[in-house]
Amino acid sequence: MQKRAVVTGASSGIGREFAIQLAARGYRVTGVARREERLQELLNALPGEGHGYLVADLSEPACVTAVADSLAAEHCNLLVNNAGYSCFESFHESALESQDDMLSVNCRAVMALAHAFLRQSRQGDALINVSSIVAFLPTPAQPMYCASKAFIASLSECLWAEHRKRGVYVMGLCPGITATEFILTATGGESDGTTLPASMIQTSSEVVGEAMRALEKRGKATIITGRTNRLMMLMPRLLSRHRLLKTLSVIGDPEKAM
Ligand SMILES: NC(=O)c1ccc[n+]([C@@H]2O[C@H](COP(=O)([O-])OP(=O)(O)OC[C@H]3O[C@@H](n4cnc5c(N)ncnc54)[C@H](OP(=O)(O)O)[C@@H]3O)[C@@H](O)[C@H]2O)c1
Repeated sequence: MQKRAVVTGASSGIGREFAIQLAARGYRVTGVARREERLQELLNALPGEGHGYLVADLSEPACVTAVADSLAAEHCNLLVNNAGYSCFESFHESALESQDDMLSVNCRAVMALAHAFLRQSRQGDALINVSSIVAFLPTPAQPMYCASKAFIASLSECLWAEHRKRGVYVMGLCPGITATEFILTATGGESDGTTLPASMIQTSSEVVGEAMRALEKRGKATIITGRTNRLMMLMPRLLSRHRLLKTLSVIGDPEKAM
């Protein structure tokens, strides 16, 4: 029987690539996002049949419930909790509502959909939660984003340990800088991140390719994509937390980098 995958944030970047690579592997994909025209375009581009989409704003509890209900209504073998965003802004100067919105999309929706998915999951199923290397390397100008990705990384590790006994694989996927619309959104359209060193940037295809290989192996709880990003993971091992924060507050400042 054909497997079913639900991918949030499927209208662009990493989520869109997940939808394409999963459809190519025979999954029936349901994409979730706000921009319907992008989802419709994706649907036309997917190989195979039986794909669909749900238009949902995951900052809205009612929309999250609708997506959770769709997971419960028809067995889902794989959930990719991918939708998320950042905003490079001063925490205290920005409106509380905008920080709260990010918390809802990046954490609350991830938690609620993971919960709905795992309740209906069976042996052999898998949950991929898209975190980031900033879960381990907190950078300035995006405190809520870094905290939200640390939340996802930690949640994923605990769920991995809890569900492996049932044969359900949980992965916390941690990409570094990836060429998507992410930086354009985070900078309010001011930068697309093309001035960043090319050696630091992966394509969505590379990130999702690594996630797919890890999904086949069903081994580790946390997958850091890209050799440069894995090298950067030496920093938290070699430096004290204090030194790490001081270093990242200089080299990780997005305003200086772009
Ligand atoms: N690109 C990077 O450098 C990078 C690095 C590490 C981790 N990540 C993570 O990778 C994931 C995907 O990001 P990306 O790089 O592919 O960026 P992207 O191209 O901007 O895609 C973000 C996706 O999230 C969806 N989304 C945002 N807000 C939403 C909302 N309120 N409701 C429903 N969907 C929403 C967007 O769809 P709509 O706008 O159509 O709703 C879009 O499909 C995110 O969780 C991000 O944190 C990205």
